[in-house]
Amino acid sequence: MKEQSVGRSKITCAFLALLAVLAGCGPEASRDEVTDWAYPGGNQLGYHYQDASLIDAASLDRLGLAFEFRDFVVRGRTHRGMEATPLMVGRTLYFSGPWGVTYAVDAATGEHRWTYDPEPDGAYARNACCDAVNRGVAIQDGRVFVASTDGHLAAIDAASGEELWKTDTIVDRQWNYSSSGAPIVAGDVVLIGNSGADMGSRGYLTAYSVATGELAWRFWVVPGDPAAGPDENPDVTAARATWPADTRWNLGLGGNPWDGLAYDPELDLVYVGTGNGGPHPVWMRSESGAEGAGLYLSSIVALDADTGQVDWHYQTTPGDSWDYAATSPFIMTELEFDGSPRKVIMQAPKNGFFYVLDRETGELLQAQPFTHVNWASHVDMETGRPVLTEASNFRLEPKVIWPSMAGGHSWTPMAFSPRTDLVYLPVFEAGASFTTNSEAPFVPGNANHGTQNVFPPFDDPELQRQFEAGPSQAFGGRLKAIDPVTGTMRWQSGPLPFLNGGVLVIGDLVFQGTVDGYLYAYDAATGAERLKLEIGTSITAAPMTYRLDGIDYVAVLAGYGGPQGSFFPPGSAPDRYENFERLIVLRLDGSPVPVPGPRQEAALNDLGDPVPATLAQMRRGQEIYQLNCNRCHSMGGASGIYPNLWNMPQGTRDGFAQIVGNGLLAYAGMGSYSDNLSPQEIAAVRAFIINDSIIKRRQGAAAGAQYREATH
Ligand code: HEC
Repeated sequence: MKEQSVGRSKITCAFLALLAVLAGCGPEASRDEVTDWAYPGGNQLGYHYQDASLIDAASLDRLGLAFEFRDFVVRGRTHRGMEATPLMVGRTLYFSGPWGVTYAVDAATGEHRWTYDPEPDGAYARNACCDAVNRGVAIQDGRVFVASTDGHLAAIDAASGEELWKTDTIVDRQWNYSSSGAPIVAGDVVLIGNSGADMGSRGYLTAYSVATGELAWRFWVVPGDPAAGPDENPDVTAARATWPADTRWNLGLGGNPWDGLAYDPELDLVYVGTGNGGPHPVWMRSESGAEGAGLYLSSIVALDADTGQVDWHYQTTPGDSWDYAATSPFIMTELEFDGSPRKVIMQAPKNGFFYVLDRETGELLQAQPFTHVNWASHVDMETGRPVLTEASNFRLEPKVIWPSMAGGHSWTPMAFSPRTDLVYLPVFEAGASFTTNSEAPFVPGNANHGTQNVFPPFDDPELQRQFEAGPSQAFGGRLKAIDPVTGTMRWQSGPLPFLNGGVLVIGDLVFQGTVDGYLYAYDAATGAERLKLEIGTSITAAPMTYRLDGIDYVAVLAGYGGPQGSFFPPGSAPDRYENFERLIVLRLDGSPVPVPGPRQEAALNDLGDPVPATLAQMRRGQEIYQLNCNRCHSMGGASGIYPNLWNMPQGTRDGFAQIVGNGLLAYAGMGSYSDNLSPQEIAAVRAFIINDSIIKRRQGAAAGAQYREATH
């Protein structure tokens, strides 16, 4: 590797070829050349980068539609978020959609080859914090691997779409596990984590034999309940020492690794980004309120790929109380620090700091904020630990904290260009209020955050004051170019809406889709905007690129949903257009990209008569609604991907107990709540919804009448 030692500005083609990462590395590619995209990041290092392309600044205005695929499996009436990066291998595009359903289409024509439906139990959508989304597939040696929402991992024959094997990755279905991440292959094992840190579960990563699906090893992110049995291995025992003695082990404690995974074949190390603690505030995870670092929460952990043993770990947010999962995607490269080349791994987790670590040793090389951060003043480079501020502590009183619980960045892929040596990072810019909810009992099957988080503006004048004292009142997103060696920002895009898509670099252009339904391209060196192409559908996934028969394509999955699915922000694509799942594939000299039709407001149903109920029943109904239902069906019936319960037709009002208590619509993602709601409670929530919708409808009509009076 000596000659390939990589200066900050010189990654050679030889280096890239050596790692078998990028075909077509060179100035020209021949007409018949095919360039695969075999990993979500294009290469195993996670660059999301293609060097050679006919798509460049000069040709960009000729970008148009090659083809579009819309034939996604939709369960019931809910269109779901699209978060996967497609892969292209052997002239075929492979991608997953909601629920882990996997599709193969001809990469030149879009012709459908096969659909594989893992047929997950739809009730598991309730276990997912953030929609029945899926972040992609892995492919190796003619096999495609995908995980379904209900936590099964399948190997599929890439040619036929036949299932080769399927295994249950969930150790205990009493807990609230689900799966949304893309598996990765590490040698002869395939790895998959799970989600559920916010819900009550104990996170872990499992390795299965690529050939047979047999269990190879399991890494437990956090210690288990000692009452349930001895520690599984010495790493669990070592982690236990970092938790208070009176930890509430039976809560599960979270840490679920639901996204970021990487594999370095040379070091034979697997890197896993681990999730936040559950419940969120550290003081709620022990009986006495004692606080501990709580390994391996919110950490980057290097594991031996053969055994799953911890090689090194770095905890980004010790004792994490802020939902600062370190599950974001990784990029590996070589960078020069203090004159010597280092093999590094980089991550921008939710906590707002951009980290560069030596991936052989775990040594911290750089940690700088990439967005406004007030929970820590800085990361102490001696100890490697963040230095907490008073602003971070919401144990006794609510605080406005940056970044918000949504993070400064989450799962959307960042990109690295070896031409500029810059990292291109999709950033969320927002603070939020954190209020402890220590009295809230832990309810299995619920979102057990232990906090209430609200975005600005705030009713509470003190919170509003804290918010306004912040550096900016911005609530939105930016694409930022970051120099990973210094941790400084080189450029940023203009203001964008909140929660945009992942990033792709093609040559000197950086591509990013946005939640308001555009595909942008920027000059990679300067940030100058080069393209704003309307797609008409929200993009939160990352685009990818490939070449077939001398034609370069850019493909991206579009569709609104995910953590913000319960609400269509004003001006977002689903606010303006009909929302559904799409694969958009672009090429030079393509046709105009069609935008969907305008969003249709549902016709108003007759709401029938009020339901007799006491004030106490109404209050209880509202409480239950807030705790259980609001994260999908917006209170008051604001538009979102889920049915509006403030407009229920008679059939739904009559079938309410069947739907909520008996799982009548479980297949479509509306699981039964009979496990934690009694028939009386279901009746109370029904009464609350129906009566409140009648009141709101009357108020709306009255407001409308007043408005008409005022304007006449
Ligand atoms: C994880 C998301 C999620 C949560 C949480 C959730 N629901 Fe649902 N709900 C759905 C989905 C998805 C549908 C649509 C199913 C379909 O397409 O038929 C639905 C449908 C319904 C319907 C039928 C609406 C209609 O117009 O036909 C009712 C009633 C309902 N939910 C009530 C509730 C109540 C009450 C709660 C809380 C106790 C709740 N839901 C919690 C996802 C959710």
